[in-house]
Amino acid sequence: MLQVVCKKDYEEASRAAADLIAAQILLKPDCKIGLATGSTPVGAYAELVRKYEAGELDFSKVTTANLDEYKGLPGTHDQSYRYFMDSNLFDHVNIDKSRTFVPNGVEEDAVKACKDYDELLDREIGAFDIQLLGIGGDGHIGFNEPADAFCVNTQCIKLEEQTIRDNARLFFNGNLDEVPKEAYTMGIGFIMRSRKILIMATGPKKRDIVEKAFCGPVTPWVPASILQLHPDVVLLGDEAAISEKVRALGK
Ligand code: F6R
Repeated sequence: MLQVVCKKDYEEASRAAADLIAAQILLKPDCKIGLATGSTPVGAYAELVRKYEAGELDFSKVTTANLDEYKGLPGTHDQSYRYFMDSNLFDHVNIDKSRTFVPNGVEEDAVKACKDYDELLDREIGAFDIQLLGIGGDGHIGFNEPADAFCVNTQCIKLEEQTIRDNARLFFNGNLDEVPKEAYTMGIGFIMRSRKILIMATGPKKRDIVEKAFCGPVTPWVPASILQLHPDVVLLGDEAAISEKVRALGK
């Protein structure tokens, strides 16, 4: 079932996303959560930190695994996704960092890196209780870019030009050359195994792709469209990103 939640703006959407994740932790303190990076969830992570500081949340038994990591970047690099997670969330709450997993960006052997992450996900997670996702301008989830088939397992992906440009604008001080051209990403198979999926989309640039993903055909050329087949998806966004047509789906 798809539930569409459309909030006024980014701040309200962030608070609503944090509320949902917090509810999951209250329901099951030792829950397993799939996490995303990028600009979209920053506000939700800040709100989770606020809840923790207010004594409303306990992360001590939570396990997390992230969708992706740039190939070639160590976790100490300030543009790595490990660094992003530490600085936006993990360093500010009482999570056991040994229970937070991110693909190993410094493993040069791509086949090994992907196999290792899949084994780790099977062993430590099994299936997420909730998976937080953003959506790329080309419909990617994780870094699963448009392709002629949905990629099931963790893979090493060549990032699309649009993704590299989007990332350079937001990160890497706008320097295209510095953005790694490859990344490790959790496959769509593991994402779909999650019991619940929370996909966030905010801002006018996401409006068209959200409509394509949720109102168009299910196709690997729009990877997020596969979520139409998942039994429990919350699409949470703001008025700029969620068109009337998409809102009508969740009513
Ligand atoms: C990041 C990730 C990506 C982003 C997507 C949207 O871990 O998995 O799929 O969610 O690129 O990025 P933003 O939020 O920066 O628009």
